[in-house]
Amino acid sequence: MVTVVSFVRFSIIAACCLIFILFVTQRDVETYPRTLKFTEPIQDQEDTFNFSVPAITIADIIKRHQDELYKNLSKLLSNLKLENLTLATGGQPVRSVIITTWRSGSTFLGDVLNAVPGNFYHYEPLLNFGIVQIRDPPLAEKAINNLKQLLKCNYYDLNNYLNYGKAHVYLFTHNNRLWKECERYPQFCWNTTFLSDFCKLYPFQSMKVVRLRLKLAEELLKDQLLNVKVLLLVRDPRGTLQSRKHRDWCPGAPDCDQPKLLCNDMVADYEAAADLQKKYSDRFRAIRYEDLSVDPYNHIPDLFKFFGLTFHENVKKFLDSHTKTNAGGVSSTFRDSKSAPFHWRLDLNFTEVQYIEENCQEAMKLWGYVKAKNETHLKEFNPVTPYVID
Ligand SMILES: *[C@@H]1O[C@H](CO)[C@@H](O)[C@H](O)[C@H]1NC(C)=O
Ligand SMILES: *[C@@H]1O[C@H](CO)[C@@H](O)[C@H](O)[C@H]1NC(C)=O
Ligand SMILES: *[C@@H]1O[C@H](CO)[C@@H](O)[C@H](O)[C@H]1NC(C)=O
Ligand SMILES: *[C@@H]1O[C@H](CO)[C@@H](O)[C@H](O)[C@H]1NC(C)=O
Ligand SMILES: *[C@@H]1O[C@H](CO)[C@@H](O)[C@H](O)[C@H]1NC(C)=O
Ligand SMILES: *[C@@H]1O[C@H](CO)[C@@H](O)[C@H](O)[C@H]1NC(C)=O
Repeated sequence: MVTVVSFVRFSIIAACCLIFILFVTQRDVETYPRTLKFTEPIQDQEDTFNFSVPAITIADIIKRHQDELYKNLSKLLSNLKLENLTLATGGQPVRSVIITTWRSGSTFLGDVLNAVPGNFYHYEPLLNFGIVQIRDPPLAEKAINNLKQLLKCNYYDLNNYLNYGKAHVYLFTHNNRLWKECERYPQFCWNTTFLSDFCKLYPFQSMKVVRLRLKLAEELLKDQLLNVKVLLLVRDPRGTLQSRKHRDWCPGAPDCDQPKLLCNDMVADYEAAADLQKKYSDRFRAIRYEDLSVDPYNHIPDLFKFFGLTFHENVKKFLDSHTKTNAGGVSSTFRDSKSAPFHWRLDLNFTEVQYIEENCQEAMKLWGYVKAKNETHLKEFNPVTPYVID
């Protein structure tokens, strides 16, 4: 009986309180100036109802990409154990490095390697050094460090590289798998966490370097954990210099337009090649662009074996479509691969050829390139003879 009475009393008091509160708040609202209510209704509503979807995070993108990539790759490369090959899962990727110089056929070979499913392409990672060759300290140390960090997918200490890339996006566009996500999420493209985590998903890491001389590449070979394979790609200096003549960034830069400097580098590269071939016989190799182009269907599978890569049907498709026709722009890799390396014979006159040959005697002898005898001979001769490295 007592509890019923107190319940009724409590209810009445509670009801009174409620009415009082409603009355007071109503009055409060009424006391606001009317103008305020009309000028800020949208603000009021947003504070109360926020229907926007939470923004996507880097972790979301990486997770989704990883799922999709691993699903794709386990179909395409069913013979491989992916977990053993990606940094993201505690494995070590297959790392392939091409050492060469400007206009020596590396665009083609770089794209052939990038045709491998699951490849992450570090395209000319020393672009920010400018039109220079790196042969010695002090540039050498910085350059080697950058290459090692990239091969380890560690983008955290690469501000110069990334800042350069923001203004020159071709640093990334050749890495088509990365660039696709960059176009989708431009807000994360240059973020170091995004780049490092994305890179770590990939089982194959390829890199082409046109600014570092071969002697210095030994620093990469020495690193046991990296376990890189290094290929030196060499081209006839007359072909290289002819091709450079037509690039607007080259004339005026001594390391690029002086035959003497190019050919001194070719001699030094030959000596380094002889040394590396002895020390790292299974991880270092050299090839001439002319040999590769004349007979790609023999050389490419052989190079793939050396690199430890599968000659996947996508690679064969790439070769089929890029070695048989002449089409596309100056850096295009769509061309008749058999004639492309020798095009310089038609473009340079005999005087120009002789000038290069005078500065390149030793380099040409070492790498098996022969001189043109006269204007007529120039247009039709075969400049390539056998060579040995020792
Ligand atoms: C709505 O939510 C999103 C995501 O949580 C947040 O970024 C945004 O600032 C919110 N907007 C307002 C007006 O509170
Ligand atoms: C997976 O394969 C599909 C179909 O070929 C392709 O569209 C997609 O981009 C691939 N995704 C990744 C992350 O490789
Ligand atoms: C993957 O790595 C594990 C652990 O190191 C090893 O036992 C296994 O043989 C490797 N598998 C392949 C296919 O390489
Ligand atoms: C990159 O993204 C991460 C995670 O979203 C963030 O914490 C970091 O500040 C970003 N870094 C830069 C340089 O913007
Ligand atoms: C060869 O080409 C150079 C450069 O284009 C030109 O200056 C020179 O006159 C040419 N020589 C001959 C003999 O045609
Ligand atoms: C050019 O050189 C070739 C090969 O040595 C020779 O047969 C030919 O007679 C030469 N032509 C001229 C015009 O000197």
